[in-house]
Parts: sequence; C-alpha cells; structure tokens
Amino acid sequence: MKPIKNRITKLLGIDFPIIQAPMGWIARSKLASAVSNSGGLGIIETSSGELKKIKEEIKIMRSLTDKPFGVNIAQAFVKDPDIVKFIIDQGIKFVTTSAGDPARYCEELKLAGLKVFHVVPTLKAALKAVEAGVDGLVVEGFEGGGFKNPKGVSTMVLLPLVCSKVNVPVIAAGGFIDGRTMLAAFSMGAEGIQMGTRMVSSKESPVHKNWKEAIIQADDQDTVILNRFSSPALRALRTDKTERLEKDDTINAMTEFKDIQDLYFKGKMESSIALTGQVAGRIEEEESVQTIINKTMKEFYDCLEKLKKLS
Ligand SMILES: Cc1cc2nc3c(=O)[nH]c(=O)nc-3n(C[C@H](O)[C@H](O)[C@H](O)COP(=O)(O)O)c2cc1C
Repeated sequence: MKPIKNRITKLLGIDFPIIQAPMGWIARSKLASAVSNSGGLGIIETSSGELKKIKEEIKIMRSLTDKPFGVNIAQAFVKDPDIVKFIIDQGIKFVTTSAGDPARYCEELKLAGLKVFHVVPTLKAALKAVEAGVDGLVVEGFEGGGFKNPKGVSTMVLLPLVCSKVNVPVIAAGGFIDGRTMLAAFSMGAEGIQMGTRMVSSKESPVHKNWKEAIIQADDQDTVILNRFSSPALRALRTDKTERLEKDDTINAMTEFKDIQDLYFKGKMESSIALTGQVAGRIEEEESVQTIINKTMKEFYDCLEKLKKLS
C-alpha cells in the first residue's frame, strides 16, 4: 500500500497516519506492536498507573518491533510526579498528553527532545494547547469512547472548527474505524486518525471475548454518557449497570471502576464500566490489526479515486 506523506507521517516516522488510542491496561505491547508493525503508530498507556509493568511492556515492545511507538500521559489518572522522568528514561520520542493542563509537562518533554501532542475536546482547549507549545493536537469528538468533557462537541463540528483555527498538525479521534471516515477527517483538515473502540475489538486486543462480542453486537444507540453533569463525563457501553447509572446522577460513575479488570479480562460485563465509543454500532467483526489498517488504507484510496471522478 502506498504510504501517505504528510506532517504526521513525517513527524512520527510511520507509513500510515493511523494511531492506536492509549487505553488503560489494553494499550500494551501486544496491541501496540501490532499497530506499529502494520505501519501505524502504537501507543502504550500509563493511565493504569502500573508504571513498573509499563516499563516491562516498553522493553517487550522493543523486542516485538523496531518501528516507532509512543506513550500517553493521561494526567488526571497518572499520580506519579516522576512520570516525565520515567518517560524520558525509557527513551520514548512521542507522547500524547490528555485529561489535564497542556502546559504541565509540555516544556519539560520538549526540552528532552520529545514530540508532544495534547488531546483536546473543545476549541478553547485546542487554542490553550497550541499556546503551551505542543507539536500537534489529538482532536477528540464526543462520540468517542472514554473520558469526555461533559459539554461535549461531536467530531463533525469540532474537527473542522479546530483545524480552521490552528496551524499545528491534527490527529482526529472519535468515530474513526475505516477509510471513508479517515478521508472525511482529512477533508476536514486532519492529517491522521486515532482509533480506540476499533482497536479494543481487534484480534490483538487483550480484552475478554465478551467485551469484543458486545461491541460487535452493539447498534448505534448502545453507548451511554455517564457523569453528564460532572467531570469527567465518560462514554461507555450500554449495559444494565450503565443504564442504571445513566438515570441516576447522584452516583459518581468514577466509583464503579474498582473491578475494571474483572470486566476487561474476565468478561464480567456488569462488574464495572466498559469505555466504548458510539462507533461500536459500525463494528461487525473481530479483525487483526493488520487487516484493519490494510482495509482502512485501501478504502481511503478507493474513496479518494471515486471522489476525484466527480468533476
Ligand atoms: C477503553 C478505552 C480506554 C481509554 N483510555 C484512554 C486513556 O488512557 N488516555 C487517553 O488519552 N484516552 C483514552 N481513551 C480515549 C481514546 O484515546 C480515543 O481517543 C477514543 O477511543 C477515540 O474514539 P473511538 O472510541 O470512537 O475510536 C480511551 C478509550 C477507550 C475506548
């Protein structure tokens, strides 16, 4: 497949500007190396807070791929004050920061020679991140899985808005699973896409088959927003538990994460909350990362050719 040449692929040293989302416990070496080896960019999470384990995972990552990869710092969830030193010590070259003030780690990371992208859910946050000196943005719409700004803006509005106001390269997140959505992102000004829910459901994702199956079975209405009026809000798979939480805003959904690993790895779908994007409604089968990336790129080029014939 023909590589894409743009600011994102150049900056990251990859063939295809398809980034695998950081996801607590899930975005580790097995999944991330499959993405990097397929020409995209794998990202290792730190939001689990298990830094000792992450250090091992980065080591394993280097034995599984010689391709570039990155690390995410989800600032609200990483409590270790030495996180920046930790990342620099691991020889990482690319970091996405999320869920916090973009200025907090940007300068230190950049001084150490790393490229820094910040994840933003609003135009205001995007402008603040650019002001802080980031190299690029991950612009994440409200349809995406995971933690959200309660006053969420969907990708279709947010992405072209941000792209029209900033000059840094943008990776689009929230709703991306294939070539046609990738081309749409490019037409709105992005130069890369990030896939979260699609990667949860991939063959190399370490999560239990019950969650993958629930994503495959989900229709377009099968996610809920929890903590709608507090922060962080979050988008998750619709289950009996999350439906109950959706209707009861006296309970902070954040208290429901203590048994998350039972859900993720033992498949007990009611034991916690499965962070999942609306795009679950478009996912129909479990596929390997290589297949997902190849199909995405083929569809991207096919759609582009089709559009060129319009005039
Ligand atoms: C299970 C899960 C865990 C996530 N954890 C993180 C995280 O630790 N850090 C982060 O920046 N984003 C996290 N996100 C958000 C993703 O990075 C990504 O932007 C989002 O999933 C994109 O939307 P999509 O699900 O429609 O692909 C998570 C998303 C999911 C589905």
